Amino acid sequence: MKVLHVASEVAPLSKVGGLGDVAGSLPKALRKLGIDARIVTPAWPGVLDKANELGGNLVRLPPLLHISLQWHVMSSKIWKTIIDDVPIYILENSDLFENLPIYPEELTGESALPFAFFSLSALDLEQKNRWAPDIIHCHDWPSALVPISLKWHRFYRDKNPRPMTFFTIHNVAHQGIFPFHVLDEWGIDTRSFTIDGLEFYGHVNLLKGALITSNCITTVSSRYGKEILTPEMGYGLDGVLRKEKSKLHCVLNGLDPGWSPVHDPYIPFPFSAENLEGKKHCRSVLLQHLGWKDNMAPIFLSISRLTMQKGYDILLPALDALREIGVRCLFIGSGNPIFTSALYEAADRHPDNFAFKHGFHEEFSHLAYAGSDMLIMPSLFEPCGLTQLIALQYGTVPVVRETGGLADTVRDADDHPDGYGFTFIPYTTEALLKGVRRALNAYRDPFRWDGIIKRGMSKDFSWKVSSQHYQDLYHRTLENKRR
Ligand code: ADP
Ligand code: GLC
Repeated sequence: MKVLHVASEVAPLSKVGGLGDVAGSLPKALRKLGIDARIVTPAWPGVLDKANELGGNLVRLPPLLHISLQWHVMSSKIWKTIIDDVPIYILENSDLFENLPIYPEELTGESALPFAFFSLSALDLEQKNRWAPDIIHCHDWPSALVPISLKWHRFYRDKNPRPMTFFTIHNVAHQGIFPFHVLDEWGIDTRSFTIDGLEFYGHVNLLKGALITSNCITTVSSRYGKEILTPEMGYGLDGVLRKEKSKLHCVLNGLDPGWSPVHDPYIPFPFSAENLEGKKHCRSVLLQHLGWKDNMAPIFLSISRLTMQKGYDILLPALDALREIGVRCLFIGSGNPIFTSALYEAADRHPDNFAFKHGFHEEFSHLAYAGSDMLIMPSLFEPCGLTQLIALQYGTVPVVRETGGLADTVRDADDHPDGYGFTFIPYTTEALLKGVRRALNAYRDPFRWDGIIKRGMSKDFSWKVSSQHYQDLYHRTLENKRR
């Protein structure tokens, strides 16, 4: 079985968040099951250099790939590399893929052009490459034009052979909404602009189109799969999702096996649930790095995009109270300027309690996970969340809001004898502080804390089960096609 993953970010070549992690690790797990999984992704700045550095025998495939968009022919070079056994096609067009961050702040027909080009290229790739996928597996709105085009694009609607399409919703809040005129510019039949098609409050909604046109929809945790069917959490697409429910499946994300404190090259001391000595040393190194005293005051880690989704509007008002109860917080992230300046200010005013590392720091994040005592993740919503899974692997106890994938993966240690984290439900600063206080009580009891850490570290959040679930869904979808 041949499956092409269409992903706008793929770790370790490019990464903005969890989508990059999943696109980098799921195909690897699928190949272990004997599926010929491959990936196509754009050459954002730095991607080809990174591919070169990783030594995956980067080669250029001879023909250029041409795509017609905005009544012009646009072309890209196709590169192929193999990373961890996974073939990756990288599309190079320095005019189109020139921007970082990858996702533009403001979506317009113009700023979305790289994604339109990239999606249509995925449909043409096989001709240049003589490898025709049975299934094209798309991730979030940047690749939504793939299933949409197989139904409504003037060139691709009659494509033969015709692949089946999977669409994974990583975040229903990001939908790819555009003015009507993009349809013509992208070659999409304007008759698709109806209430049962791409139309969404007078605009074109790519995510909606992908939900309607894909053969199978998946999302990344069971709880989130239920939440998005409700008006409160469906971001306007709950009705469409309820209608398409028979093809919606929930498959929990897994972690790349590289996230392991036993053989992580970026942490100074390895450790495991059997021997936590290394974690203590990592903690000292982290404290040294932050200029903090090596004492018992716990270190909370918050690492994420600084957006409303991640709960900063209930976390920031908690900072004074956190300081008063002796908590130290390391914040890592970038995003919303209001949250950014609040974090800078907190770190300036109380440097013994708060540290802020602005930006995306992949390498340092490993030491931060390994050296911290707890992770704080008070998300407003969280489709899956990989951050808490990584924290668990590294013996860093998560304190999370019970929503989406956080609810599915973190078990409260006060409520359950086999628990290994702390959860709270109301989206309020008070509830968050209550959760933190409960975690602190446990932390002050070293014997109990040790058990909590070890239970968390022994959880299996690999792709083992979930990749088989995907395999099963692929098979079922192809069988339905044959019938
Ligand atoms: P989301 O995809 O919503 O951003 P996830 O929890 O699924 O959230 O995944 C986030 C991923 O990005 C994790 O691998 C996390 O370690 C990483 N990450 C987030 N912010 C940063 C940052 N500032 N520096 C380094 N890694 C980060
Ligand atoms: C999204 C979600 C996050 C999820 C990730 C990977 O970015 O916000 O919860 O873990 O995708 O599926």
